[in-house]
Amino acid sequence: MTTTQHLALHTLREGHGLPVLLVHGFPLDHRMWEDVAAALPSGITVVAVDLPGLGESPLGGEPPSIEAAADAVVAAARAAGLERAVVVGMSMGGYVALAAAERHPGFVVALGLVDTKSTADDDTARANRLRIAAAVSESRTVDAVLGMPGALLGATSKIARRGLTARLEEWIRSQRPDGVAWAQRAMAARPDRTEVLARFAGPVSVVVGEEDTLTPVEAAEHLVAAARGATLVVVPAAGHMSAVEDAPAVANAIGDLWAVARD
Ligand code: MLT
Repeated sequence: MTTTQHLALHTLREGHGLPVLLVHGFPLDHRMWEDVAAALPSGITVVAVDLPGLGESPLGGEPPSIEAAADAVVAAARAAGLERAVVVGMSMGGYVALAAAERHPGFVVALGLVDTKSTADDDTARANRLRIAAAVSESRTVDAVLGMPGALLGATSKIARRGLTARLEEWIRSQRPDGVAWAQRAMAARPDRTEVLARFAGPVSVVVGEEDTLTPVEAAEHLVAAARGATLVVVPAAGHMSAVEDAPAVANAIGDLWAVARD
């Protein structure tokens, strides 16, 4: 067993029955889900994980890969007594959720895909990630990703929800450079998992901020078209961080998914 299997799990809500497991985006940690967890119906167990090297999780010795992250998430959840879960991933968390569905189909009962996509990077995006990973590794700082809130937040939030930029910056600033570099290299190496979604038998909910420019509405529509009967929720006036920009809307979609999966 490698140390990546000792990921930090945070119980954001105590409940019973089928749990919801939340997987954060890059370069963030479980804190991005706090408002969503608070807005979910009471009675649902809500657990959020920190991916390898991010938040309170150790990096471990695995070479960077989304598959290693997915294995570590499921191992940590199982070690904590979760036998199966509604797995909800935002952006990078969505890549991990899809890998978990492929590799641990008995664990993933339903999939929530929030501001994410199933396709792989093109050469330009991959090269950009590797450049950022190298900059972070060499500088041993997260300076290269500190500007990300500008791209993560939607146009409306940048004007109307001014406190969010500082909140995101604080979360990003607190990440470890080795974890940030590992995550970038893992995302750069990930394959297209559209077929995984096509094969997935459980319920799927796709959520996207109307103003998401990183994984836009078209990427969400591609997910819905690939899945066997997914629902699509477009969150108005929100960007890539719809889960933070309009947490009640995202919680509502997750609550609906949980209700379908539980039946
Ligand atoms: C994220 O929010 O997790 C990132 O935008 C994912 C990515 O860089 O592809």
